[in-house]
Amino acid sequence: MNLQEKIDLNNLPKHVAVIMDGNGRWAKQKGGARIFGHQNAIAAVRDTVEGAAELGIEYLTLYAFSTENWNRPQYEVNALMELLVSTIRKETATLNKNNIRLQTIGDTESLPKTCRRELLEAMEITAHNSRMTLNVALSYSGRWDLTQAMRQISGLVAAGELQPADINEQLIAEHIATAGMPDPELLIRTSGEMRISNFLLWQLAYTEIYITNLLWPDFRKQHLHEAILSYQSRERRFGKTSEQLTNKSIT
Ligand code: IPE
Ligand code: IPE
Ligand code: MG
Repeated sequence: MNLQEKIDLNNLPKHVAVIMDGNGRWAKQKGGARIFGHQNAIAAVRDTVEGAAELGIEYLTLYAFSTENWNRPQYEVNALMELLVSTIRKETATLNKNNIRLQTIGDTESLPKTCRRELLEAMEITAHNSRMTLNVALSYSGRWDLTQAMRQISGLVAAGELQPADINEQLIAEHIATAGMPDPELLIRTSGEMRISNFLLWQLAYTEIYITNLLWPDFRKQHLHEAILSYQSRERRFGKTSEQLTNKSIT
């Protein structure tokens, strides 16, 4: 039985989030420049997107560029932006063919104009696709997200449309960038780093975390299957006791 056949399709995460890390180290191991690693990350993205869609995952969120990544050397930032444009251009037809909708989360206003234009076009072309939403986090950080949500909500309060007492978890969830999507049940991070790096801070409150030492350019759908199998072996207690979950008579 291969790994994919072991996956329980009735217990799939609806939303998988991925911190795609380790491109630079992958390139260094091969004696190449960091950009070489970013270029080789595309094959991993393609295979992971395909693998997620094949399984029936509804939302796949990929952390592609963080707010803090703007602080990298200018030539690396430029190369990443160019790679983003050329990848979208090349991959939109495949996304469409596979019935996958492209969306972004993040401060996309801060991206170069050509990137914004390319993204908007790809999002428009794929807008009616329904098999899976591929959500790319670009110029994204969890703190940026919470800040922009607070700004929106305080605007509504100042305009008299909301009272402070109306602010609850649901209202906040409706103003963060992932509004309308379930919180990720599974977070995958490659390259062995055990940190969140300012990713989905609100949304990850009860997410199962899976960390692999693989560097992102080596990640393939079989590794996604491994992560999902690990997720399916976990007991998600949400603060309750194990007995409460297994013995329904204890309330
Ligand atoms: C992840 O790989 C890609 C981005 C953050 C854009 P890195 O570029 O962070 O690679 P490492 O972590 O330096 O190996
Ligand atoms: C996290 O990776 C951001 C992305 C994968 C886009 P980083 O390489 O930027 O994270 P740190 O700096 O190691 O925490
Ligand atoms: Mg990194």
